[in-house]
Amino acid sequence: MKRITIPKLLEKYRKGEKLTMITAYDATIASLVDEAGIDMILIGDSLGMVIQGHDTTIPVTMEDIIYHTRCVSRGSKKALIVADLPFMSYQVSKTKAMLAAGRALKEGCANAVKLEGSMEMVETTKLLTAAGIPVISHIGLKPQNINVMGGYKIHGKSAEDAKKMIEEAKAFEEAGAFALLLEGVAVETAREITETVSIPTIGISSGLNCSGQVLVIYDLLGFNPSFNPKFLKVYADGHRFITDAVRDYIEEVKLEKFPSDEHSFHRK
Ligand code: KIV
Repeated sequence: MKRITIPKLLEKYRKGEKLTMITAYDATIASLVDEAGIDMILIGDSLGMVIQGHDTTIPVTMEDIIYHTRCVSRGSKKALIVADLPFMSYQVSKTKAMLAAGRALKEGCANAVKLEGSMEMVETTKLLTAAGIPVISHIGLKPQNINVMGGYKIHGKSAEDAKKMIEEAKAFEEAGAFALLLEGVAVETAREITETVSIPTIGISSGLNCSGQVLVIYDLLGFNPSFNPKFLKVYADGHRFITDAVRDYIEEVKLEKFPSDEHSFHRK
């Protein structure tokens, strides 16, 4: 089966089919989520936290994104590959944004890029899409703004904030974004945005009324039991699965049960 294209993805959206997106950062996980039938794989700058162990996404570099995007694109065959543009790879100037996004496609083999922003990113989005770079605009809670926000909070709670977000959504649609990612948006505002625009909205922590959903793969797999925000549904006990398997392995090595004859090679 061939890789899904953006027109095919939009066809699904127009038919009312919910779109699915998940993050992945390496070829093995990419091949698994691909096999499961995910529509889009996001190489999120969340890799700064779940792969690199930082507290925020701020330290992630363009080199990191390119490296992981290449791994994911090699491991997957069907899903649309979306590379996140990291902090300061696109905010400095429109030229920098074009070069960073171009690298994500040329070197990372991504099919599209995602970038966080409000009205100040509309012009950049216009230039990127005009240059043939498909864009997902990330609005609402923007983790790259953590130092300004001082914490993660839900957006679009007041009528005024909701109005502002709807204007932003419309502006990104007009600028050519093929989808919007809504993070941490009040359910009612996410629904209004979804009803207002004619491009899909992919939600995280934004309720059911988006055109699709996205989650960070390690969160969904339950790798970190101490991370349990309200928006997250954990679909597997990945923490127990891995620690149990590794404990069994340690025990069998110590007891000289592994490697058994079955796993060993003999002279002729
Ligand atoms: O970086 C990321 O993984 C993201 C998701 C949380 C949507 O932006």
